[in-house]
Amino acid sequence: MNEEVNVSLELDDIQSGVLRPRPTPYAATYIVLRIDERNAGRELMRRVSAVVTSAAKPTSPLADTWVSVALTYQGLKALGAPQDSLDSFAWEFRQGMAARAKELGDSGESSPENWEKPLGTPDVHVVLVAISPDTQGLEVSIERARKAYQSLPGITAIWRQDCHALPNEKEPFGFRDGISHPAIEGSGIAGTNPQEQPLKAGEFVLGYRDEIGGVQMTRPEVLGRNGTYVVFRKLRQRVAAFRRFLKENCASPEDEELLAAKMMGRWRSGAPLALCPFHDDPELGADPKRNNNFLYEEDDPAGFKTPGGSHIRRTNPRDASVAGVVRLHRMIRRGTAYGPPLTEGVLEDDGADRGLMFAFVGAHLGRQFEFVQSQWINDGVFFGAGDAKDPIVGSNAEGDSFTVPWRPVRKRLQGLQRFVVTRGGEYCFMPGLRALRWLADLQT
Ligand code: HEM
Repeated sequence: MNEEVNVSLELDDIQSGVLRPRPTPYAATYIVLRIDERNAGRELMRRVSAVVTSAAKPTSPLADTWVSVALTYQGLKALGAPQDSLDSFAWEFRQGMAARAKELGDSGESSPENWEKPLGTPDVHVVLVAISPDTQGLEVSIERARKAYQSLPGITAIWRQDCHALPNEKEPFGFRDGISHPAIEGSGIAGTNPQEQPLKAGEFVLGYRDEIGGVQMTRPEVLGRNGTYVVFRKLRQRVAAFRRFLKENCASPEDEELLAAKMMGRWRSGAPLALCPFHDDPELGADPKRNNNFLYEEDDPAGFKTPGGSHIRRTNPRDASVAGVVRLHRMIRRGTAYGPPLTEGVLEDDGADRGLMFAFVGAHLGRQFEFVQSQWINDGVFFGAGDAKDPIVGSNAEGDSFTVPWRPVRKRLQGLQRFVVTRGGEYCFMPGLRALRWLADLQT
């Protein structure tokens, strides 16, 4: 056995939410807490360390219900973490998401002054996430979390977001979500693309070797080890506008489905264009053994099947030739949908708030999340398409276009707009279980 295979992750110290894919279907709740009093914050850490479950036994069906806890930089400060420790965290984390608005494309409607309060303010200290396969289980896990903070004067719950799976694993635009995940050495959880080599554990967990041989760490080591960075972003989806865009650019419902697939890189069923470029194949879309088993370069270098600008080819170009090294920009995603689905066929906005609580997990905020958001989603230079943005998720302005490689001539579709609006979010650190107890025991 080589060194890679031997890497042993301390699964019993890593929070479940880091490595385990969320249950399918799911119900989830985000609760944001503010620490008004340092000792109450430390007591909270002690209590949550008993509620949070570890990533050990990742495939046990009984362990599908869990609570995760993450802290912002302001939260670590409120707990009284020593300055030397605070300074050892990634600088993007120290700044917080609102301060990174320019890099993230959060301008106009998406800019932090328009965010849902208190998101983007220094009051966001602790983020609790409870998740379960159903609402009954969710209530049980929320109750466990509530016990940890409710009776604590000095801790205030300041924001809550409920999320729930939509029928058939779809996100609000109607595409199957939660398909593609990287494999991580030593995690015991298989990736979904058999053609992708497992990534080094240090890409996703602090304290282990990463793809370039480095080890992310904090001072002291006990605080960082087995922890990771987590990005939460509440993304509102303008479903009616997306549907109108499809309708305005297509002559028939079949054409609309093809255009939607060209924008995503997958049919709404989840079936990838790479494997079925001309028509949908719902059976393939629902088959986890086949629906992510593909690469791009040999079969489709110019993007005639899966456009280089589609959401999935941009956010993971796999083996396609692009500027940069794809393996350095991979991420774990834990998206959960919120809000009611828009009734099938409706083309006018009904005023309801709906979208995705996007969640990123990784050890490198800068070269993973921020890089993908700024270089791959909100720019097109990396694959030779100038400043063309992701047609679905990008910060497009009225008049931006989407190019579909086509024979004999490519198609350029006008009239893109911002279909996804940022409502707020934060950069967090999700400590290991030992680190939670270390935070609880802080003195002074
Ligand atoms: C509301 C916003 C978003 C929607 C509706 C959305 C939807 C989707 C869907 C339907 C898929 C394909 C299914 C899957 O593989 O799970 C996907 C894949 C993916 N998305 Fe998004 N997404 C959104 C935002 C983002 C953002 C902000 C990022 C990164 C910063 C991102 C990164 C990815 C990645 C890395 C993949 C997997 C690509 C692959 O490996 O093939 N997504 N997304």
